[in-house]
This record gives sequence, C-alpha cells and structure tokens, in this order.
Amino acid sequence: MAGDERRSETGRGRRGFLKAATLGSAAAVLRPSTLVGQERNGRSLGGGVGGYGERSGFESTLRRVRGSRYEQAAGSLTPLQDLNGTITPSALHFERHHAGIPDIDPAEHRLLIDGLVDRPLVFSVDELQRMPAVTRVYFVECSGNGRVKWSPAEPETDAQAAFGMTSCSEWTGVPVSVLLREAGVRPDASWMVAEGADACRLTRSVPLDKAMDDILVAYGQNGEAIRPAQGYPLRLLIPGWEGNISIKWLRRLQLVDQSYLTREETAKYTDLMPNGEARQYTFVMDSKSVITRPSGGHRLDGPGFYQISGLAWSGRGRVQRVEVSTDGGRSWSEAQLQGPVLPLAHTRFRFDWSWDGSETTLASRCIDESGDVQPTRASLIAVRGTQSSYHNNAIQGWRIGRDGTVENVDV
Ligand code: CO
Repeated sequence: MAGDERRSETGRGRRGFLKAATLGSAAAVLRPSTLVGQERNGRSLGGGVGGYGERSGFESTLRRVRGSRYEQAAGSLTPLQDLNGTITPSALHFERHHAGIPDIDPAEHRLLIDGLVDRPLVFSVDELQRMPAVTRVYFVECSGNGRVKWSPAEPETDAQAAFGMTSCSEWTGVPVSVLLREAGVRPDASWMVAEGADACRLTRSVPLDKAMDDILVAYGQNGEAIRPAQGYPLRLLIPGWEGNISIKWLRRLQLVDQSYLTREETAKYTDLMPNGEARQYTFVMDSKSVITRPSGGHRLDGPGFYQISGLAWSGRGRVQRVEVSTDGGRSWSEAQLQGPVLPLAHTRFRFDWSWDGSETTLASRCIDESGDVQPTRASLIAVRGTQSSYHNNAIQGWRIGRDGTVENVDV
C-alpha cells in the first residue's frame, strides 16, 4: 500500500491506483465528463488581490463560542476536527478570558521587571523587539481541556467540544532568561509573579527555574503580531504548562521569594482529590491524543479505505509513540508520526485503515518521551476521583455505527 502511494506521487503508480480503486477507494472513478462542471464556471477574469488575505468563501469552519453565565462569552474552541497538519491558524486559536479582551495600543504598552532584581527595568514593545529573539512551535492548552471526560460520554460530543481548548502556534519572542539576566536576579529570588493588563489583572506565580529555562515574552504568532485574544501586544509563553499561566497582555514580571497564592492558584486551577486534599501547582499538561478524522459528527461514506488522523502532544517533551485501536481498545497498533516531531508541540499521527462496514470503536493513546502513557478514563478516575475539573487526559473513543455515523464513547 505504502509503496503504491510513493509511486503515485512520482506519476508511475497508475496501476497501483486503479487496483486500490477496485478495492473500494475513496476516489470516484474518472469519467470523460469530469471537467464539465469546472468549464461551466467559464473563463472570465478571476478575483483581484487584497492587502490582507481571506479564506475561500466555500470554507466555513469556525471556533465554537462557549456559553457563559456572564453577559460576555469567555471562551471559544478550536475546531480540531476540521484542521490539517499541526499549526492552528491564528484566527482559530482557542480563547479563554477572565475579564474580556483589552484593546491595547502597543505604543503605550510597557513591561515592568522589578522585585528582587539589581536593576528594575521598563521595556516598550519596540525595545523588546531589539532584544535577541527565538522562534519556537509550542502548543497552548487550557488545563480544563478534556473536562467533559470527567462525566460519562455523551454521544453528540465532538472533538471540538471535548478537546478544542488546545492550539499550536509558531511563537516569536525574547527568552525571559535574557531579560532577567539584564535586570540581575538577586540570590533570594525563587518565584516570578507575572501580571496581565486585562481588567482582572490576571496574576500567576511562576517558579524561577522554569522562567530561566524556556519561557518567552512573545510578540509574534504564526509570523504576524499576536492576536488581541492571545495577548496583544505581549504575552508570556510557558511551554508545556497549563494555558492559564501563560499570562496574556503581560505588563509585569516581579521577582519574589515565594509563591503569591493568587486566586488562579488557590480558588481555581487546583485539583480536588478523593481524600479531600487539593493538588496545587499542577502545571504540566500530561500526554494526550485525539483522533480528529474521523471523529464525532463525521459520517463515513460506506466501507473502504480511510486514513485515520489525529493530534498528540505532551507537556513533558516529545511524543514518542501513538497507538491506535480500531477494535475498541482490545488491540493497539503503532501509528505513523508526521515529522519533524517537536517537543511541547502538537504532533500529527496517521493510521491507514480499511473499514469493513461493521460497528466498531476507534481510539488513540499517546506515549511521550518521559514514558507517560495516556490512561483510560476508568484508570484515571480510580486515582483522581471525579471532583477535579482540570487535567483530564483520558483516552478518547469514537464509535463507528453501521450507517457510518461517528459518536463519542468511553473506552
Ligand atoms: Co493545574
């Protein structure tokens, strides 16, 4: 099969293609009339150019805006089931806000670095853009992503509803370590308090080790300025950790000698365990994967070949392996990983499958380079109970009905 595909790409695989077609290929058989529909559009001059591009008018995928008990919607979900590759288009990056999106003039915006430093510093956005920068691909995931899996599966839940609070971008910015060395870190500093310029002044305590390791003050996303909903003009980007701590609209980094026990690390973003104690500072996002095609809401068009495809990621480093089950978790086979496999980034996996038309369940599980294996829902709940809201990385199942419908199911 793979050999036939390779020959097809070089134009010498016609025999292989025809053979595949007779076995029940996804493609329609070629007829002489195939181009007629395209000719009907005529040969009049096409559309003109524009200053800022738009997608085809035939494309309609959207972020789904999450309902809120408040007047203003506070979040939106990435339509993972409609995306290709690994990069989330900036316009489809999920959103989560705690006090709306501030409208910030970058010429007025400043970043203050103070506290336990030798030299407090203030940077304008222009001044930050003069500093040594790096560009890296990282996912950002809300720790509440997968929250629906704390409850038994509802058939109509799709990939977007279950997992749409993760997105992956190419981020450009200045390493925090560069800025902190410029300010001079005093020996008694052990935490960094990061504060946003939104109305709630969202504030989180960040361990200094991580700050000196790989955290960025980012101003670029997928080649252009960060979108307002993602923190324009500056955001903290903390790779692999729960999204809430990557403070958007960043305006202050204060070095301190302890965690500041802010609202977002006490009342929220903690995990209540069965014994009544709460896990706190659960920063790292565990290994996770989801099949995005086919997934909930899709409908298979009869038996035959389908390439199963999905996303895997881990806050502990690279995805080492993804396994796919096409029999409800009874057996597992290794999927192909689309390279390059980057640490702390979405990784695309693919698995060739021929559906025989019978009812079955598809599932995937991620194993990361630390050895962390994505658990079943039952084994996760056996340890964590069901009082948590955050950090659910249970295996996702999709039941394929005889009629080709795809529904959410627990594995
Ligand atoms: Co957490």
